[in-house]
Amino acid sequence: MTRYLITSALPYANGPIHFGQVIGAYLPADCYVRALRLRGEEACFVCGADEHGVAITIGAEAEESSYEDYVARWRDQAKETFDRLGIEFDVWSGTSVSPFHAEMSREFFRRLDENGYLIRRASEQFYCPKDEMFLADRYVTGTCYVCGHDQARGDECPKCGTWLEALRLEVPRCKVCGTSPERRQTTHWYLDLPKLRDDGIGPWFEDHPWKGNVKAFVGAMLKDLQPRPITRDMKWGIPVPEELLGTLAEGEPDKVLYVWFDAPIGYVSFTREWAEARGEPEAWKDFWRSPDTRLVHFIGKDNIPFHCLIFPSMLFGVKQDYVMPWAVPAMEFYNLQGRKFSTSGNWTIAPDEHFTRYDSEATRFYLLSSAPETSDSEWSWGEFQSCVNASLADTIGNLVTRVLRFVAKHFDGQLPALAPALEDEVRASLLEHSGPFADPVDDILAFRFRRATQTLIANAAVGNVYIDREAPWALRKSDPERAGAVLFGACQWIAWIARWMVPFMPTRAQEIWEMLGGSGPVAAATTDGVPTAANWRLLPAGTALGAITSPFEKLEDATIQAEVAALEARAGN
Ligand code: 2FM
Ligand code: ZN
Repeated sequence: MTRYLITSALPYANGPIHFGQVIGAYLPADCYVRALRLRGEEACFVCGADEHGVAITIGAEAEESSYEDYVARWRDQAKETFDRLGIEFDVWSGTSVSPFHAEMSREFFRRLDENGYLIRRASEQFYCPKDEMFLADRYVTGTCYVCGHDQARGDECPKCGTWLEALRLEVPRCKVCGTSPERRQTTHWYLDLPKLRDDGIGPWFEDHPWKGNVKAFVGAMLKDLQPRPITRDMKWGIPVPEELLGTLAEGEPDKVLYVWFDAPIGYVSFTREWAEARGEPEAWKDFWRSPDTRLVHFIGKDNIPFHCLIFPSMLFGVKQDYVMPWAVPAMEFYNLQGRKFSTSGNWTIAPDEHFTRYDSEATRFYLLSSAPETSDSEWSWGEFQSCVNASLADTIGNLVTRVLRFVAKHFDGQLPALAPALEDEVRASLLEHSGPFADPVDDILAFRFRRATQTLIANAAVGNVYIDREAPWALRKSDPERAGAVLFGACQWIAWIARWMVPFMPTRAQEIWEMLGGSGPVAAATTDGVPTAANWRLLPAGTALGAITSPFEKLEDATIQAEVAALEARAGN
């Protein structure tokens, strides 16, 4: 039986999560998992914080926190943001605290070494004599030799995106003290990517049906692969296996696994943690080592090489029958009002503040409706307003409140009866004459999140067309039986809307279901995707409605203008 293993990129535990990240790797994954479950599929949704590496140590040192405290704080804060957005992982952990992570990472390293996929090599690296340390990755800054940007880091240029060789940086400086570093000899282990490519990853990649942006990027990289260093001279991280360290010459500094080596292994070790917590310690293998598993990595496009090339190479190279990625729905970049999100530049939306003023369910829906699936896209306050007002309040909200309030007032707050003589007519009016409808889950499972939101709203519009045409308010006095029958149909349609809403707005979907008097989880109302003659009735006549509230509040122009003005002011524009 097919099982789905869904991962979201592990966020660095070094700052708040912004909406660009949310729509890049977390919200689509949550929506996808909920859609899978609506179809009765088995899924495990794994995430946690990425807690090693230089991005963490530099952040902690800047505020004089211990590394442990620093990552714990950001790990918890990220989880809070995900909770507020209704993003529900099956396991949320952290690479510095997960009980299996360090040992499993070392085990990967050992096996790769035993299988001949690691190279040990001595080379020169920058060393700061003042701080007495090798300057791994971002500990050295300088001018990019590709684009001339003067704030390039030892591993990557943030401007042109090139992976850099630190030693080629122009005007290198120590990030901590600004000193010009010297070169010293040190030994590291390298992942032999050319060998892994030739032994199997190359053909596997070529044969796989990748998304366009993935195919082009990794295809080009495969042609010119070099061994990549996977250890660093640092204290914070997972120590290289003792027995391998022992083979080095005296005087070599502490060595840990490179953060990008251990982080994706977090997907595996956190799944094991999940299995252990369920009391089925071996269950993680059913996901990771079974040909029936579909492994889906939700990531932003900057993570493509690691998820489509390097991590698969590691999974392949340990030769333990690990599953390979089945799909990598990498998102493009998501901006804010025409510019990149920037926490330090105050060009951002602070999630905790946002949720004091705005509905998190509507926020989920807007983010999914504007997802950067095939090209860069953005959060625009004006579009957020029109999404909330036109799509959610006017289309879904209006249908719900006008129908349910009318039933509450004129039909004793109970779902009216459908007279058998009117049954065929009502069903045909709703299912055949009010407009086409489709199951948004089909779009979601094809990773078409934007189209899925449109499908949901189009389905809600079908309900409005039906009710406008049948106008039960006009019939109430002249033909109450017919008015009741029409409202019976409208309430069934609202029940379907609630059911279709689940992957997008799970809490609001449940609330609408309960307004209709539905009991139990709305997701269990039906396993079918669209209403047919056989299944269109989800609730029986006579069901007592619950308390009715407006599902969505409209946003005023003044509110939106104030948001834009405040954003500009914070950024100093
Ligand atoms: O880019 C990032 O935010 C990384 N922390 C993603 C890691 S994903 C995985 F491999 F762990
Ligand atoms: Zn220094």
